[in-house]
Amino acid sequence: MSATNTDMETRLDALHARMKKSSLAGHWQERKRRPDLVPWRWKWETIYDCLIESGEVMPIGHAGERNARRTVQLINPSLVDVKATSKTLQMSVQLVKPGEVAEAHRHTAAALRFIVASTGAYTTVEGEQMIMEPGDLVLTPNWNWHDHANNTDDNVIWLDVLDVHLTGHLDGMFGEQFPEGAAQPITKPDGYSRKRFGAMRPDTSDIADVALLPYVYKWAEAEATLHEMAEAGEASDYDGVILEYTNPITGGPTMPTIGCWVQMLRPGESTRAHSHTGSTIYHAVGGAGVTTVGRGSEATELTWGEHDCFFVPSLGWHEHRNTSKTEPAYLFSVTDRPVLQALHLHREERA
Ligand SMILES: [Fe+2]
Ligand SMILES: [Fe+2]
Repeated sequence: MSATNTDMETRLDALHARMKKSSLAGHWQERKRRPDLVPWRWKWETIYDCLIESGEVMPIGHAGERNARRTVQLINPSLVDVKATSKTLQMSVQLVKPGEVAEAHRHTAAALRFIVASTGAYTTVEGEQMIMEPGDLVLTPNWNWHDHANNTDDNVIWLDVLDVHLTGHLDGMFGEQFPEGAAQPITKPDGYSRKRFGAMRPDTSDIADVALLPYVYKWAEAEATLHEMAEAGEASDYDGVILEYTNPITGGPTMPTIGCWVQMLRPGESTRAHSHTGSTIYHAVGGAGVTTVGRGSEATELTWGEHDCFFVPSLGWHEHRNTSKTEPAYLFSVTDRPVLQALHLHREERA
């Protein structure tokens, strides 16, 4: 090495030290990479066992306390330190036992519930009593008051999905407790929002923000529509028979930060592979199958059955296969795609 090069290296080291002291860095310097998320599958059996056990050892606390909600959180192994399912979304499974109330609060994070087990428990969102039936999707957009009550004799269990990691990353996370007690008063009957905001509706021009509507999508309707579409042969090569849950007024996603879909894979159906920006968390509503993520020697096979959950990272090639030759399989999924679309970052590539 010439004397000039040695001199340059010495000066470069000194420059790095000088910049570091002033919280500066050169673009050429190495930096810590953010972790790549891995495809993952969580077995329902394990989630359920832990959730039921938590019901025996972790009482529900008051709004504002850490245990105000009793949930078991799904963690991507790449994000153990931050306890997150993806870099934007958190999926958890919540248990409310007979007679319990999860007290009212509201927050800037948007939330939704997808019901797994319920025999008539309800959630109250912005004063509307929403009866929860298995497979229903309930929206709690940001800053909507919400509390949950189980007045039945059976456990109620649902998936919670919140955009907390995105909201937190943007330093936009805050919330408050309902000022007048554990439960907000019920002022609107079950079905109110579906009648007021559905296809036949009164004038909605005075609603401050139609992108943030409380809403319930019923499983019975989703299932019937999927079967009608299957009979009519209306299916995608890449997703099977698929429906997007949309905001009834804007026609856009359920909420600005979370997109929701439900798809049916017909008996024996295999989809073609595609890759797109936006990470997706799936929940098998019913049936069994395999989702292959990645290609060639790098591929990971995620085998899933009823109520299992799994994760497909952004830009991961993926294809689904229904392993039953006689029964359909149903996948509910949530994605941060609406955020990528709003920022013009959505791309898709098809095999
Ligand atoms: Fe909440
Ligand atoms: Fe996809």
